[in-house]
Amino acid sequence: MNKAPFKDSTLPVEKRIDNLLELMTIEDKLGQLNQLFTDRVIPLKEELTEQVRKGKISSFIWPKADPAERNRIQRIAVEETRLGIPVLFGMDVIHGNRTCFPIAPGMACSFEPELFEKAQAVAAKETRAEGVEWTFTPMCDLARDARWGRVAETCGEDPYLSALCNVAQVKGLQGDDISAKDKVAACLKHYVGYSCPRGGRDYSDTEITEWTLRNSHLPPFKACVDNGAATIMSSFNAIGGIPAVANHHTLTEILRDEWRFDGFVVSDWMAVKEQISWGFARDNAEAAKLAISAGNDMDMLSKCYLETLEQQIESGEISAEVIDTAVRRVLKVKFELGLFENPYVEEDAYENTVLKPEAVALAREAVAKSTVLLKNENVLPLTDKVKSIALIGPFGDDQVEMLGCWSERSNPEDVVTLKAALMERYGSDTEIKVVKGCDVSSEQRMICLQDGSTVVDRDADPNEGCLDIGGAIAAAQSADIVIMAIGENRTLTGEGGSRATLSLSGKQQELFDAVAASIETPIISVVFSGRSLAIPEVFEKSSAVLFAWQPGIQAGPGIIDLLSGDVAPTARLSMSVPHHVGQMPLYYNHFVTGRASGGVYRDNVPTSARFWFGHGLTYTSFEYSDIRIEPGKANAPAKAVARITNTGDREGVETVQLYVRQLACSKGARPMQELRGFKKVSLLPGKSAEVVFQITDEVLSYTNRNGNECVDHGEFQIWIAPHARCGEPISYKY
Ligand code: GLC
Repeated sequence: MNKAPFKDSTLPVEKRIDNLLELMTIEDKLGQLNQLFTDRVIPLKEELTEQVRKGKISSFIWPKADPAERNRIQRIAVEETRLGIPVLFGMDVIHGNRTCFPIAPGMACSFEPELFEKAQAVAAKETRAEGVEWTFTPMCDLARDARWGRVAETCGEDPYLSALCNVAQVKGLQGDDISAKDKVAACLKHYVGYSCPRGGRDYSDTEITEWTLRNSHLPPFKACVDNGAATIMSSFNAIGGIPAVANHHTLTEILRDEWRFDGFVVSDWMAVKEQISWGFARDNAEAAKLAISAGNDMDMLSKCYLETLEQQIESGEISAEVIDTAVRRVLKVKFELGLFENPYVEEDAYENTVLKPEAVALAREAVAKSTVLLKNENVLPLTDKVKSIALIGPFGDDQVEMLGCWSERSNPEDVVTLKAALMERYGSDTEIKVVKGCDVSSEQRMICLQDGSTVVDRDADPNEGCLDIGGAIAAAQSADIVIMAIGENRTLTGEGGSRATLSLSGKQQELFDAVAASIETPIISVVFSGRSLAIPEVFEKSSAVLFAWQPGIQAGPGIIDLLSGDVAPTARLSMSVPHHVGQMPLYYNHFVTGRASGGVYRDNVPTSARFWFGHGLTYTSFEYSDIRIEPGKANAPAKAVARITNTGDREGVETVQLYVRQLACSKGARPMQELRGFKKVSLLPGKSAEVVFQITDEVLSYTNRNGNECVDHGEFQIWIAPHARCGEPISYKY
């Protein structure tokens, strides 16, 4: 018997979709726009299994990592339904599956997009092996306000670096062909303008102008769309009072008409229905109509599409074409993933795929390249003269904390802590004392339910938990070097992880202050956090500070590689570090305004960052000289050139950064600085090299309100510098 054309893999995908659409009923079509939660239980609840059997579920989110159960569900969809359309399994694999890498802002500090691409290629391989074909990453939002816990998922505060890192993630996740057994469909999120919530509180409203949307928040998304991202997730926030899930301007005018995006858009969790609480939609039916008409194709969890669109098509409220367009987009990704040809996964592949030695080695390299040396008063790298070390603080040996936020697939037992790595590297000939000193935190005790979900234990006594200051002081006083392993606990970052302060969590500040007051011994602080922190005492009283973010399973080895000098630090801050939480939102690339000082705090809090975007030290020093512009020629752009010299006694890598500012732009004021290039140069002691940046139109351009890239003739300032807000600019007339 001839098989239906849609099953013929030799036909073009569009032809297969045409045929399938002809065969689909409206129920079938609405089923393809419906994504539900597995409830993370095995076996799948009967009510959900029944809906699969009826073709009412297009995708499941958050399955357990269980290939056999995943195949059992898929078999029902493929073999027990009339059309056999496969289910698409999606999961938040954000910074690694079982091989857990540093969180994104840390990876971005590497200023090495290729590293990001390799890491996400590992994540894709492990994720596809478990039977998940779609991961809800990369997050293309910008970090503007460290009080917002989701900065822990961003690639930092700069659109240029974020775009490079996010494109690298898409390439690592998707490769050239998402039907490959080691690739998955990426999902750009959260589209768009989610990352500046009022008060830094997740889910609260954001107010972003079209100009800032076009020039700060959209560029990372556009770069990824231009590089073939398969899917996009619309965000919880509203833009100009219109929820992003139902915003025709962003979802259709920009995404489809301007950018020609040809994948599909999924809402965020229940966001279709949440238009009602926004005060935007009257009821589920209007919410569904507004969202699908604006260009949001798939409904994550609210079931508004499944339960209300059929009537609205029958009544003429919504045209069948709107539905077909959305279904076509979803089917296109399912065909391109190869799900119709290979709906099942090898059930023993996952355990044989995860934690490969080369993947673990990459994770270790990533930790060393993500950890920023913020301060070093000649105490690092450790020398062999150190005969006794005290490791103090709750992050020294906490496997769970090293995994950070959004690490559902990662196992604490796979983590090598700082204590373990320190013992391994120095334990044989150095006396090492380890004192936890206090708990990671008492703000939120998380308790795990038997289904694996975690909830906040509201009954936790905020004062409970150990506080062993005496033990910590005793250990510190008997050591040549004190390493403080401190930070903020991971439940304070990620979704919903907003804070009104940027301090160490729990009683760690008390512990740090007591230890610092009790010794003259140099303190090396290793800070673990999902965000920039305002911890002045730590920065001022430590002789060295390493900012390790949430580093993943190779936390210890990667950090020891830096402490020992086996690897020289190269990381540069992807987000600025404040003096005080009151400075939030804080980012280097803000507008100058009519009063360049931008105003001051009368209560003497500095207005500058303690460490600006791009800052990071290494074990040598560099000098920038002979910074100049070489005029362009007939068919070659002008060049910005600098001579970089290694003035220290160790080899080192410098990340030379190019910043620009357009002094007058009548379409809209430009930020006071914008990163538009960086180059790494490795130099032996005493050696120097010239670093050259081409001043192309792209380096000088901005996006106007119609989405066009523009370059104006006029005056520019150009910096070639080691970080933002450093050095004097040179003038350039374009
Ligand atoms: C959440 C998050 C989003 C995540 C999605 C699925 O609400 O906002 O980042 O991908 O739901 O888990």
